[in-house]
Amino acid sequence: MAVDLLLGLQWGDEGKGKIVDVLTANYDIIARFQGGPNAGHTLEFDGIKHVLHTIPSGIFHENAINIVGNGVVIDPVIFRKELQNLEKFDLDINSKLFISRKAHLILPTHRLLDAASEAAKGKAKIGSTLKGIGPTYMDKTGRNGMRVGDLELESWCDKYRSLANKHQAMISFYDVDVQYDLAELEAEFFEAVEHLKKLTFIDSEEYLYQAQQAGKKILAEGAQGSLLDIDFGTYPYVTSSNTTAAGACTGLGVAPGNIGEVLGIFKAYTTRVGSGPFPTELFDEDGATMSKVGNEFGATTGRPRRCGWLDLVALKYAVQINGVTALMMMKADVLSGFDSLKICTAYKYRGKTINHLPFNIESDNVTPVYTEMKGWKKDLTRMTKESEIPETLNQYIEFLEGELQIPIKIVSVGPDRKQTIHRSK
Ligand code: GDP
Ligand code: IMO
Ligand code: MG
Repeated sequence: MAVDLLLGLQWGDEGKGKIVDVLTANYDIIARFQGGPNAGHTLEFDGIKHVLHTIPSGIFHENAINIVGNGVVIDPVIFRKELQNLEKFDLDINSKLFISRKAHLILPTHRLLDAASEAAKGKAKIGSTLKGIGPTYMDKTGRNGMRVGDLELESWCDKYRSLANKHQAMISFYDVDVQYDLAELEAEFFEAVEHLKKLTFIDSEEYLYQAQQAGKKILAEGAQGSLLDIDFGTYPYVTSSNTTAAGACTGLGVAPGNIGEVLGIFKAYTTRVGSGPFPTELFDEDGATMSKVGNEFGATTGRPRRCGWLDLVALKYAVQINGVTALMMMKADVLSGFDSLKICTAYKYRGKTINHLPFNIESDNVTPVYTEMKGWKKDLTRMTKESEIPETLNQYIEFLEGELQIPIKIVSVGPDRKQTIHRSK
């Protein structure tokens, strides 16, 4: 059975958590393939809001197995807090949450290195979530990292010590003011590691291979979004992993030929948290309305998200890179009430009109070219049926489908599981 992928097509926070939760009913296994606790995936049902950072978004479904894949980086301290938040829901975690032995560990000193690196960059900082993501992936590709499977070896403490010592020397190299009490951080880390060791570690590529052979339905859950991809995003203002479809192959050990549907998820407008170019960013009333109605604050850091119109040039690029086969449009309800809506269909770049992302995308060298569409006034949040979708929203959807040549299968009209319209067209 092929493995389906679900990934964000913008700068993250598209609503992946909600949709994975909605779709889990159709799957046996949900497997996260990259990123770490820089992610914040929000799910809402029965009047309760849950935010997950490392744990896959299928965890609340009774029969689904959830796997943290080899491409993910895990901070035992944050992981422990996530598990503590789940305790009251009686989820039988040990029988439904498995962790890849090949996933890398975020050490306390990785977080400190992240802070030092950002402080050293000053105004040019990436706007990292400061969860230690960059330094951990650097140790992975530098072949110095510590993996979950190392915790099963007697010598793991020695390995930890020599890596942490090296990190401390690197922190002083940065020559910036990063205050820390390593003894305190380590006490918390070692305690959290003991908790992590109580969970089930697996060779996830083997587990997933056997599951495919047995005909299990598997959904791979991405974190971040395509425009934050280390290769194809708005570099250097990106994260440190491949957030695009190929990341699922390396982050889970799934062969490219065994990928089935590629489900691409996007907001009906655009948001971005952290630094970096954002051609359609709004600094006016319209942007403020999106921010307020959409409650656009980061699920991990609480930082306000920058808001702007939908950027179809960027979206087309993401659809292309990922080979998206079906689309899901989120937060349509947030655009209710606008008289007219803008969609960026091209950029003016160095005197030319272009339809692709240029190498050097800067907000001040790219001017969006907009198509204007009529808005819709109706409150969408109680709608559940395709037939209820207002005419002008249908025009918005059909315009996007025409441009992207991919069907929009789901329109989301609120944060709750139930606020989801499935389209058959
Ligand atoms: P993720 O990182 O892609 O999982 O997305 P986040 O959870 O970081 O951010 C999405 C936010 O939008 C969360 O607060 C969700 O509860 C919320 N959300 C998801 N879908 C909708 C929707 O259709 N309408 C509204 N108003 N909120 C939504
Ligand atoms: P989810 O999975 C939105 C952004 C950060 C920063 C850049 C690098 O919830 O969509 P990092 O901590 O990786 O070094 O930060 O990437 N970023 C996200 N933005 N959603 C996310 O995840 C993000 N994860 C990282 O704000 O600009
Ligand atoms: Mg998020």
